[in-house]
Amino acid sequence: MKVIEISNITKSFSDKKVLDNLNLSIEKGEILGLLGPSGAGKTTLIKILTGQIKADCGCAKLFGENCDKLSPEVYSNIGVVMDNSGLYGRLSCYDNLKLFAQVFNIDKSYINEVLDKVELVSAKKTPADKLSKGMRGRLILARAILHKPELLFLDEPTSGLDPATTGKIHELIFELKKSGTTILLTTHDMYEATKLCDNVALLNEGKIIEYGEPLSICRKHNPDNSIHILLNDGTKLSLQNSSESADEIKRYFDNNQIVSIHSSEPNLETVFISLTGRSLV
Ligand SMILES: Nc1ncnc2c1ncn2[C@@H]1O[C@H](COP(=O)(O)OP(=O)(O)OP(=O)(O)O)[C@@H](O)[C@H]1O
Ligand SMILES: [Mg+2]
Repeated sequence: MKVIEISNITKSFSDKKVLDNLNLSIEKGEILGLLGPSGAGKTTLIKILTGQIKADCGCAKLFGENCDKLSPEVYSNIGVVMDNSGLYGRLSCYDNLKLFAQVFNIDKSYINEVLDKVELVSAKKTPADKLSKGMRGRLILARAILHKPELLFLDEPTSGLDPATTGKIHELIFELKKSGTTILLTTHDMYEATKLCDNVALLNEGKIIEYGEPLSICRKHNPDNSIHILLNDGTKLSLQNSSESADEIKRYFDNNQIVSIHSSEPNLETVFISLTGRSLV
């Protein structure tokens, strides 16, 4: 079942076309990574999908409903983490979530469970204004998942966070996926995209210029398809990745000569920089 369906979406600001006839769909339970250089239109697409702004033409649907006029049922089934997700600064972490729980009629006992998931239990009484950037991000994430939505929009959920906090958020994202949540994620971190996403779409100048499973994309952009070997006498070899190289590689292994052995496919970052000609940050 398609949770998100985007057909021929176009959006311009003044005379600048930001999204150009975009088509994309996301299946239930999928994590899709929307990647692309700064200004590519990722946040704009999320705003269109969540009904915050309107597309100029085309049609986007969440759970089969047009994004221009989403029903309260669909709104109560989505969670959004983005820069403009406001918190009540003077209210504590707990009270921010309590307010939200009241709106969505959620059992208050679940608030502590969610605070635990995002590791904010010890800060539950801290006002949102006094949180660090990473803690604030985690509180916004906590609020986005409090009502157990089936669809989550995460616009750069780990941007600027330390590696340990990022790792915790990755675990949480995997946990949500396991429970069937569909996730649209934007990130500039290609390692994160490779690790988390079932599929990625690379947006550049308003169009999707590459789409697919992260590792398949890397394999596809590997024209050279070779194996790089470093021997213990310092020799560097590049052999064709085919059965013809097998005997030679076996000989190096038999003689304990191999220090390292790598296939030649590029990582996602290299692929995307070469496709866009721009850095992804
Ligand atoms: N409300 C607006 N009015 C005018 N221009 C806008 C508006 N919102 C976005 N833009 C422009 O649309 C383009 C895409 O912006 P958007 O925020 O979608 O990019 P992004 O891919 O999310 O970038 P980043 O990776 O930096 O977050 C940019 O050129 C931006 O200046
Ligand atoms: Mg953005």
